[in-house]
Amino acid sequence: MSEIETSIDLRYETKEDKQIKLWGGRFESGLDPLMEEFNDSLRFDKRLFAADITGSIAYAKALRKCDLLKETEFNLMKEGLESIEREWKNGSFTIKAGDEDIHTANERRLKELIGTETGGKLHTGRSRNDQVATDMKIWLRESLKELLKYMLKLIDVIVKRSTQYLDALMPGYTHLQRAQPVYFSHWLLSFAFMFRQDCQRLVSLVDRNNVCPLGSGALSGNPFNIDRDFLAKELDFDSCSLNSMQAVGDRDFVAEFHFWSSLTIVHMSKLAEDLILWSSKEFGFIEISDSFSTGSSLMPQKKNADSLELIRGKSGRVIGNLTAILVVLKGLPSTFNKDLQEDKEGMFDTMDTMKNVIQVTTGAIDTLTLNRNKCIEALSSDMLATDIAYYLVRKGVSFRKSHELVGSVVAAAERMGTELHNLPIAVFKEISDNFDDDIRLLWNFENSVNQYVAKGGTSRSSVVQQIAFLKEWIKQMDE
Ligand code: ARG
Repeated sequence: MSEIETSIDLRYETKEDKQIKLWGGRFESGLDPLMEEFNDSLRFDKRLFAADITGSIAYAKALRKCDLLKETEFNLMKEGLESIEREWKNGSFTIKAGDEDIHTANERRLKELIGTETGGKLHTGRSRNDQVATDMKIWLRESLKELLKYMLKLIDVIVKRSTQYLDALMPGYTHLQRAQPVYFSHWLLSFAFMFRQDCQRLVSLVDRNNVCPLGSGALSGNPFNIDRDFLAKELDFDSCSLNSMQAVGDRDFVAEFHFWSSLTIVHMSKLAEDLILWSSKEFGFIEISDSFSTGSSLMPQKKNADSLELIRGKSGRVIGNLTAILVVLKGLPSTFNKDLQEDKEGMFDTMDTMKNVIQVTTGAIDTLTLNRNKCIEALSSDMLATDIAYYLVRKGVSFRKSHELVGSVVAAAERMGTELHNLPIAVFKEISDNFDDDIRLLWNFENSVNQYVAKGGTSRSSVVQQIAFLKEWIKQMDE
């Protein structure tokens, strides 16, 4: 299902064409112009036009099934709805004064096309309350399928780049202090595993929410014996909701989408932060490609990692949208309240933001260059202090004791103003009899990294396993 671009112009006709509102029977005066504008959601919910038409055609079928529409009426209605969809797609749909949302606009147009009598039957037993929840669920489900594709592409690119830089050494950090050497590929793959969890959460949120609210009416259900299981099946839902009051007020699926987006963008923001630091002259580990950087209007030498800064920055608005929906939902009385109209702009905004952020992240990773030498230059033998402790463990010393002894070694090197690998062997031997000449074999970062062979470690063999695992998983997800 395609969705209309937000750029479609609102094509209001003149005030003289003002329509009688679909709910207008009991009202004597029209809306205050300010209220008219305040109430209008068409300028943003027109993005739901295709989902609204799909939902209406399914509802018309269900009406036909229980004989509330004659065959000729149904055919007319279906053709009318399809031609309205075409009008939205080719930009010829004319919005008229009084069209307050996508649902009223489509119904008004349907009546123009097939007559008020027949067109007026579409809403039999239906309310905009069950209609809007259905439309949003359809729209979100289809949009999330697209997001999942982008996520899989991102993971695929990470796997590719990790393979290219499989054995590039670099310092691994905790507390942003040099900790132990790792492979760059191991660091990069840590994000592939975060994004894999994000994909799993995405799939489960779609499955959990694929329940059809249509046929719940305004709040109390449907009195016309509408076949709700049929409706659910027609609209590709797994089942239909079992309590109409819950169904019309349910926006958990929107909140879950916002939480999913927030957590995913937090992962992307972390990734961006590492890369921003490493692209600075102080680190110099990586270079962001020109295609994902910008310059300064004042300082000619500057190349800024704007792509990554924007990813980091956009996490603010995505988390803001999560907060906004939770605050809207908090304290609402049961079922539908107009506050719920505030669910849409944030959902659209977060969806648009996430689509861009995932793709820009993919592009920035796909095109960055690793400066292997700079990474190696940043390694120092103090990062092998743990290895010295493991050396003693292998000679039978308990780890706690080893840790303490190596602490003395580090302190001695600091006192002498030398690095660990330059510390005379005699000093080692003074600290413990277990130190031997073979200690010099430890001064090798490659060997250090490759001792972490247990599943999930940074050794080459483990990284190769991680890559194979992810490749297989992507293949399964693509099927
Ligand atoms: N435009 C409304 C929304 O977006 C549609 C539902 C209106 N329902 C109502 N009872 N006023 O939520």
